Amino acid sequence: MKRIALSTGGGDAPGLNAVIRAATKTAINDHGMEVFGIRSGLDGLFEPGGVFPLSHREVRGILPLGGTILGSASRGNPFMRKVIKDGVEITEDVTDEYIERIKLLGLDALLLIGGDGTLHIANQLHNRGIDVVGVPKTIDNDVGGTDVTFGFDTAINIATEAFDRLHTTAESHHRVMILELMGRDAGFIALHAGMAGGADVILIPEIPFSFEAICNKIQQRIARGSKFSIISVAEGAHPRGGQKVYKHTEDDGYIARLGGIGHVVGNFVESNCGAETRVTVLGHIQRGGTPTAFDRWLATCYGSEAVRLIARGRFGRVVSLQGRRFTSIKLTECLAEPKRVDVNGDTVQTARALGLSLGDES
Ligand code: F6P
Repeated sequence: MKRIALSTGGGDAPGLNAVIRAATKTAINDHGMEVFGIRSGLDGLFEPGGVFPLSHREVRGILPLGGTILGSASRGNPFMRKVIKDGVEITEDVTDEYIERIKLLGLDALLLIGGDGTLHIANQLHNRGIDVVGVPKTIDNDVGGTDVTFGFDTAINIATEAFDRLHTTAESHHRVMILELMGRDAGFIALHAGMAGGADVILIPEIPFSFEAICNKIQQRIARGSKFSIISVAEGAHPRGGQKVYKHTEDDGYIARLGGIGHVVGNFVESNCGAETRVTVLGHIQRGGTPTAFDRWLATCYGSEAVRLIARGRFGRVVSLQGRRFTSIKLTECLAEPKRVDVNGDTVQTARALGLSLGDES
């Protein structure tokens, strides 16, 4: 009988609990495995009660819950642990301690659920001889080698509802309403929700914008009798030749946090385009709460498939959805290139065909 342990790392995403539930049930029902949960990313390995058994009882009723019953950690990278030595902060590789601990606990395999950061850790642990399988998670949908990550569908549904609500105020007050959305360096959330929510302008990191193009679109709409406009801005969007806007730079083990471009665009529009403007930053609302049916289904299939990979001894791999087929790819393949919006792809082409501005028209 194999003893496997599940861990969730990085930012939470709707569907994490569905993965935990499906993996636990599949492991017990189909493979007779003993299943454990690790609390707070991998930090739980070193905490009393931080590694605990998962059975049908622990996963009962968690399918519709957002967040993760295991807790998460954004800074649990054993390869880059910040420690104070002789009063000075240094970065240490403490992987040996993790490996020793995993062996001491008698864990045969790890199932790590997370985005880019967690999957990098998974790959490094795999390179050091730990049997690991990954499950791709992120609302940003930017993990390579898979069509879609769970959490994305929920995020775009919430963002779309926000657009619908902003629409009524925009129309009533003849305003420009701007919605800044998450996504890091990928524009999937802003693009997909922007299209679903009827935005007039969509600004994404993959297509640097010009302020002039935004103004032209707003004025064109006013000239045609539409006295309001809706703008979808990805947090990673930036002007042509300009910089991304950060609210927190990289330090203390945290990666840099984007945020603020919505207000930059809003200030410009209000001062230069002759339109009263308001900015909403949707923030963590788009990451929390109950997952959509699609995300529950996707996360369930991923969790179950990941356990089958472990059962077959196919380690160093990550589950992946390709078309309508669940399969797996090597972690290295998945991490080789992050996924970005295809600027010549069908979705962008459709947005342009509908007359939306992507901020790059001359
Ligand atoms: O990767 C998910 C994500 O929500 C990004 O879209 C966003 O930039 C970031 O995490 C926010 O991180 P935090 O929760 O640390 O503020």
